[in-house]
Amino acid sequence: MDIKVKVGELSKTRTDAILFSIFEGVKKLQGDLADVDKVLGGEIAKLIRQGEIKGKLSEITLIHSLGKVPVSRVTIVGLGKNKELTQDKIRIAVAEACNFLCEKGARSIATVALGAGSDGITPQISAQAITEGAILGSYGFRRHITKDSEQGEIKHLIIVGQNKANKTAIQHGADEGKIMAEAANLARDMVNEPSNYMTPTNMAEEARKIAEKYGLEIEVLKRAQMKKLGMGALLGVAQGSNQPPKFIVLKYQGNNSGTIDIALVGKGITFDSGGISLKPSENMGDMKGDMAGGASVLAAMSAIAQFKPKVNVMSIVAATENLPGGRAFKPADVLTAMNGKTIEIETTDAEGRLTLADAISYANKQGAKRIVDIATLTGACVVALGDVTTGAFTNDQGLVDKVITAGSEVGDKIWQMPMFEEYKTQNKSDVADLKNAGGKKAGAITAALFVGEFAENTPWVHLDIAGTSLLDKPKGYYGKGATGVPTRTLVRLVLSLRKRG
Ligand code: BES
Ligand code: MN
Ligand code: ZN
Repeated sequence: MDIKVKVGELSKTRTDAILFSIFEGVKKLQGDLADVDKVLGGEIAKLIRQGEIKGKLSEITLIHSLGKVPVSRVTIVGLGKNKELTQDKIRIAVAEACNFLCEKGARSIATVALGAGSDGITPQISAQAITEGAILGSYGFRRHITKDSEQGEIKHLIIVGQNKANKTAIQHGADEGKIMAEAANLARDMVNEPSNYMTPTNMAEEARKIAEKYGLEIEVLKRAQMKKLGMGALLGVAQGSNQPPKFIVLKYQGNNSGTIDIALVGKGITFDSGGISLKPSENMGDMKGDMAGGASVLAAMSAIAQFKPKVNVMSIVAATENLPGGRAFKPADVLTAMNGKTIEIETTDAEGRLTLADAISYANKQGAKRIVDIATLTGACVVALGDVTTGAFTNDQGLVDKVITAGSEVGDKIWQMPMFEEYKTQNKSDVADLKNAGGKKAGAITAALFVGEFAENTPWVHLDIAGTSLLDKPKGYYGKGATGVPTRTLVRLVLSLRKRG
């Protein structure tokens, strides 16, 4: 989608549709909307009086201008109550309005800095939210459909500012929003891709493409190198598959200090069948998305490379399939992880934490100052928080606070879960240092505690996105399928670590 910023009057813009907004409970029209209403003979005011336009969030009203203004469609989207307006509501309203207009055949839309002037909403913030809403909301995954889509897409979005100063702010917001939303869509593409198109090798190629396009350093370790490093936990998982595992490391250098300010570690199971502890076949296909954490860290790097903060970031994805077979690892096997800890395999379906164990040990060995891992780790987290909220687990309150704040700034809901010592007994093994599953109770927490054993004393946050990475029906700026969560949170987090000077 091409985004342009102009100075002028919205009602004079020549696009397929123009988009205004209205707050809930507004009786008297003001500004641009009042001007258009006048030209339309008071039609909008009438709809408000009659109760058709209420201004509720995402309520859409289409008025055909019948030649009275240069644009044939005048659209008004509700933003809910003025006092309760957030950036995320702007994203949602714009996404829904774009989808509505796209279905009506519009290919170009013009709007203004919707909601700007409300508490905390500057023209820049509004423009960013509008851009993100439009780009995220228009996303579709149609790569494997051979016939031409009848659906079409919105190709042009124009945000109209009132004056030059305003235009600069709006331009900044639009530029930032475009980078953020396109990164999230890149993550969605990788997650939606079926596992025969998104093998560990393909994932490494995606990472290479990102590295080349944005000038990042990349290293991809093969099985032999993983063996040398002693990554026995990761290699145990990879044993059952004919697809070679890939240990992907992408580096962004924002300063010359030589320290890694943060390592982003994403779970990269390109298909999780459960292995010998095979999953039931119902919905097993969803497990093509078990690399959503990995996709989000690679995609976040594409945005970070464009924002260029003075922060050094390393992102790591230990990519492999988890399949049964003659060479597969088995329940009761004992694996030795890179940091020397031994692990009894209770179930081969608790594979994510094994791959994270070695990826996190690698980050530690490289000297990462902070580690954030992102993983579709447990069904238990889906039971606890549904598809609305990501679970956060930590050994460092300061860092998790930063992550949660970054999430709230971009509209990703994140909730901290407890990590009390008492739960640790569930991960105890009779034959090894740890076992890879801690029973039915508190499954998201015992999984997090397992992963935490490998973060050791480094400040660390674990995000369980099992519920939030995939949706079974569209919602706001999300379509059905991959959400791209928490790509934008990760970018915002890294920007929040920005060093001065
Ligand atoms: N990839 C799954 C977790 C998952 C479940 C992600 C549902 C998305 C939606 C993970 O590897 C897994 O299988 N976890 C098991 C762990 C259990 C066997 C200890 C689970 O949650 O059932
Ligand atoms: Mn599993
Ligand atoms: Zn898994």
